[in-house]
Amino acid sequence: MWDRLLVDCNIATFEESPGNPLGLIENGAIAIADGKILRVGKRTELAGFRAGRVDALGGAWVTPGLIDCHTHLVFGGTRADEHAMRRAGASYEQIAETGGGIASTVKRTAAASDEELLDQSRRRLRSLMSGGCTTIEVKSGYGLDPDSELRLLRIASELGSGEAVRIVPTLLALHAIPAEQQDRRVHYVSEIVDKLIPAAAKQGLATSVDAFCDTIAFTPAEVERLFKAAAHHGLRVRLHAEQLSNQNGAALAAQYRALSADHLEHLDDAGAKAMAASGTVAVLLPGAFYALQEKKKPPIALLRKHKVPMAVATDCNPGTSPLLSPTLAMNLACTLFGLTPEEAVAGMTINAARALGLAHSIGSIAAGKQADLCAWRIESLAELGYWIGLPGPARRIFNGVDS
Ligand code: NIG
Ligand code: FE
Repeated sequence: MWDRLLVDCNIATFEESPGNPLGLIENGAIAIADGKILRVGKRTELAGFRAGRVDALGGAWVTPGLIDCHTHLVFGGTRADEHAMRRAGASYEQIAETGGGIASTVKRTAAASDEELLDQSRRRLRSLMSGGCTTIEVKSGYGLDPDSELRLLRIASELGSGEAVRIVPTLLALHAIPAEQQDRRVHYVSEIVDKLIPAAAKQGLATSVDAFCDTIAFTPAEVERLFKAAAHHGLRVRLHAEQLSNQNGAALAAQYRALSADHLEHLDDAGAKAMAASGTVAVLLPGAFYALQEKKKPPIALLRKHKVPMAVATDCNPGTSPLLSPTLAMNLACTLFGLTPEEAVAGMTINAARALGLAHSIGSIAAGKQADLCAWRIESLAELGYWIGLPGPARRIFNGVDS
């Protein structure tokens, strides 16, 4: 017997079939048992089976639970002061070069107790959850030294305990050079590669490693050292690439079979081709583009041409994207980058699952996958890219349970 059956709904499964790329099912039904999807199909196809509970959804649209595949949720304080400085004309790079930016959040994070960080981060987490997220990736990256980075990864994992959400911690191992190590770059990178990576792998605190490759951050050669170490320790890689300039980071990421390359405003044809060949997902972060008032958009036509899967994420962080709403991220992806609403929703479901290496268990509505679902009170799927600040789903189901 099924635990529960959802009926009276239209379903966007994001399971492609011939002539039905989004896997749409009108008047559908979803059978759930033990937190997983047992069957999905037309209501008529699922008739005659017994369920412990039947929920009529009043004609709602059901999508997979949203997946925010790129956030920096764990940090101390805010950077509201820098928001004001940027409005007065200072650039992100100028603020970073004068000791603000990531370095200022590193200080605030170090000064906060574990409880304070958990409390502040949980409030952000709950905002993303009420917007429809059932899986949220959380990067470290505001610790910088090995012990502080491991601390943030532990806090990221702890953040999920007792909450109806799946947390995926990522080790953001090369984010910024600590002020006191500016003249010892090689030494700093060695410490990360030789100490932090093995420790994080051994303690099972993360399954993938990320870095920031740009003029104000790390060079491709430094990132490559990190990627080699990650591979050696069985960790997948991801990269903040081509955000502020073109460093050929996407091609480097692809060379190391990265799960994703993220931002990509300055991506070129060679980078897009390399990503397509390695199956690397393009994670688009319109919140950062918006907050920094960037002019150069990621080359969406190029990504489409080479069939690079596109994900969309909030990039929730104190500096460049204080964005607490997945539905707003989808709207911004449409309005600022020109994604179709369907691409934006795929970007926070199936393609986000791919960017996390979890497409076998989440990201679409299919038998055997986790029953992570959102039921939206909307007339068409396109509304998910249309409303500016849609509050969230009418029902959010995590592992088969309403929450
Ligand atoms: O994804 N690009 C680098 N990292 C973050 C910003 C971090 C910060 O400014 O605090 C990002 O945009
Ligand atoms: Fe980021």
